[in-house]
Amino acid sequence: MRRPLVAGNWKMYKTAEPAEELARSIVAQVGRDCEVVDVVLCPPFTSLQAVHEALAGTPIALGAQNMHWENEGAFTGEISPAMILTTGCTYVILGHSERRQYFAETDEQVNRKLKAALGAGLSPIVCVGETLQQREAGQIEAVVLGQVQAALQGLSESELLKIALAYEPVWAIGTGRTATPAQAEEVHSLIRTSLHQQYGEGVAGALRIQYGGSVKPENAAELFTQKNIDGGLIGGAALKADSFAAIVKAAC
Ligand code: PGA
Repeated sequence: MRRPLVAGNWKMYKTAEPAEELARSIVAQVGRDCEVVDVVLCPPFTSLQAVHEALAGTPIALGAQNMHWENEGAFTGEISPAMILTTGCTYVILGHSERRQYFAETDEQVNRKLKAALGAGLSPIVCVGETLQQREAGQIEAVVLGQVQAALQGLSESELLKIALAYEPVWAIGTGRTATPAQAEEVHSLIRTSLHQQYGEGVAGALRIQYGGSVKPENAAELFTQKNIDGGLIGGAALKADSFAAIVKAAC
């Protein structure tokens, strides 16, 4: 059995003080649900330290939303794996569709970041997903499996076992339009089958695949009980302690 993973992607919301407050309310509301679900909070870089303090001594983990693949260098405006490690992060989100769409992040860069994250001992959450146009053109399989394959290129089996994938159809992110549980499960199952073909049962059976895109307390349980869905990557609904806690509960 795969242990569910529920991560809150706070995107570019919450300065340090409100971030710390939100983290403390989440800790209080999630309570013992963490015993059966891995929970991660991913605030903006400038709030990592504050949230780290709020999470001290709790089983809730801290994650960053992006990073560069080099540990240091002349890369103005970038943050390295070594830097996010100093804030107490143990997870990092890579290749989110907003990074791909607005910051031109490529599959090749996602692969470099993934290797760097693993090298630094971070647990990466790698995002993949098709746009509405690609879905309507019948390209779901080609796009999503292509992204998975490109991201995972050159990784060993032991490295693969340290990552999680997040299937996030771009048309469902922040739109209120969730994939139906059947639509999501169909793609999750495609991903798992392709992992099985390429890497065998060990990796395919163990690798967690989260669903993301307008997950809410009302739809979380039905999504999370699908056979190949192992929790969620939550955006909007992660910004309120009660809705995030209800989503974590739905994964128990
Ligand atoms: P959403 O975002 O839950 O607001 O749709 C999910 C994500 O972008 O990770």
